[in-house]
Order: sequence, then C-alpha cells, then structure tokens
Amino acid sequence: MKNTVVFGGTKGIGLAIAQRMTAHGQVLVAGRSAPAVAGAYRYAVCDVRDPRQVRQVLDNACQQFATVDLVVNSAGYGHCLALDEISDEAWVEMNRVTVDGNFFIAKHGYEVFKRQKSGHFIIIGSMASGGGWRMEIGYGTLKGAQAKFAMHLNDQFIWDRNHDVGDFHCHVVCPGSVSTDFWKAIPQRTVSAEESLVPDDIARATEVLFQHPTWGWQELAEHAKRPHQLIAALPPFTAQPYIIRISHDAHP
Ligand SMILES: NC(=O)c1ccc[n+]([C@@H]2O[C@H](COP(=O)([O-])OP(=O)(O)OC[C@H]3O[C@@H](n4cnc5c(N)ncnc54)[C@H](OP(=O)(O)O)[C@@H]3O)[C@@H](O)[C@H]2O)c1
Repeated sequence: MKNTVVFGGTKGIGLAIAQRMTAHGQVLVAGRSAPAVAGAYRYAVCDVRDPRQVRQVLDNACQQFATVDLVVNSAGYGHCLALDEISDEAWVEMNRVTVDGNFFIAKHGYEVFKRQKSGHFIIIGSMASGGGWRMEIGYGTLKGAQAKFAMHLNDQFIWDRNHDVGDFHCHVVCPGSVSTDFWKAIPQRTVSAEESLVPDDIARATEVLFQHPTWGWQELAEHAKRPHQLIAALPPFTAQPYIIRISHDAHP
C-alpha cells in the first residue's frame, strides 16, 4: 500500500491524480471545497494559505494511513495579466497560494517523510515558470518560484540520502494548457481544446514518476509518453531533469 495526500485535489489535475493513486493505496484530497467527483478517497478541508490547516491535514493522514508515501501540491489558480494590470492585492494573494502554500506543504510533508525515512513530493508547476511573457509576470514568476524551491529541496534531499536521513524525492511537473476549470477564471486568454491536455495526462505522468522516483524527463518521455504529448526539459531549468514540461504537441 502506497498512500497519497493531494493538496488541491478537489478538482482538475489534482482530482485526476487522486483518482489514479487510489489504485496504489489510500488517498486523502484536501481543498477548500468538496471534491467535484465522488471517489474512493477521503476529503479534508484545507486552505493552503494557512500552515496550521496544512499541518492538520498531514497529521490526519498519518493517523489514518500507515505511511504517507506521496504528497502532491496541485493547489493553485492563474491569471494572465501585465505588470500594470496586476493589483498589489492580486500579487499578494497569488503569492500566498502559490509560494507560501507550497512552502507549508513541503515543510510539514518533510516532517512526515523524515519520521518514515522516505517520501516523494510532486509539485504541479507550470510551463509558465519557464521563458518570459509579459502577461505571465505575476503567475509565471510565482510558479517559477516553485521550481526554484524544488532545486533547493532536491539539494537537501541529496544531503539527506548521503547522511542516512532518508530516501526523499521531488519532481515538478510543468503542464502546458490542460482542460480544467483553471481557465474559467482567465478571461484574458482563450485556449483551444486541440492544444490542451486532459487532466489524466498529468495524472498518469505523476503516477509514473511516483513509481520511478529517480526518473527525469528523458526516462518519462522514453517510457511513458502518450502520442499527443511533448515531454521535455523546461528552459531555463534544463540542468534539472526532475523539472518536466508536459504539453500537447500542438501547444505553441
Ligand atoms: N489547467 C492548466 O492549463 C494548467 C497549466 C499549468 C499549470 N497548472 C497548474 O495546475 C494546478 C492545478 O490546476 P487545475 O488546472 O487543476 O485547476 P482547477 O481545476 O481550478 O483546480 C485547482 C485546485 O486548487 C485548489 N486550490 C486553489 N486555491 C486553494 C487554496 N487556497 N487552498 C487549497 N486549495 C486550493 C482548488 O480547490 P478548492 O477550490 O476546493 O480550494 C482545486 O482543487 C495549479 O497549480 C495550476 O497552476 C494548470
């Protein structure tokens, strides 16, 4: 039995990951609203902006499950706004969910992993964290912070392996467009279904990385790429094989 906690698991990509991971063990999904689709998972209310709620979810998972083997952070939302269009409040709010929330999940997840001497953390990042586009100066910058966070975290994990603290892994799965409610809140941009993945594309990649925690983008592309997918390194993070672009091959 390999058990999973998915923050932002009530909808979209996170929910698809939760559905796949029920084949491997018990699953707890956490979010502010109830899961959009009923399934063989448990649900806990959690706003990732609040470290006490994040910790409570992980404590609950430890009480209910023998181990917590995978922690996924899929909590997030987007906007496509230029610098003079983003209010101070919108920046602060996105920072709280994207950067603070990711920190709280990793920090309290790591406490659990250290007790077990093993664990895997997968962040659902974004292709927007690479490159530069004036409309992603807010969202893209803060998703980029998740990727940079993972670089420091993976260095910690190497240190931990070398000092017998435990066997820990971290990946950042960076989707291109995926057909979810995410886009409903972004009227500034229309995304066609022809260039979008479906949530299970990201869920399948997440499941495979969990099964093969040492794999990077090359192994994932070689062994688990679906025909319509592009799986690749994500500039400027090309030296980090665990930061992985997954998009529809028609995605610009
Ligand atoms: N869809 C895309 O094209 C796309 C592309 C690149 C990256 N991404 C990334 O993929 C992740 C998932 O997005 P999605 O497409 O699956 O969107 P979605 O269907 O809107 O799902 C977003 C999830 O995040 C949760 N969430 C948002 N704010 C939260 C908070 N403060 N506390 C706890 N949970 C919170 C939502 O749960 P509640 O509403 O229940 O709180 C929901 O479960 C995001 O990080 C997004 O940046 C998406």
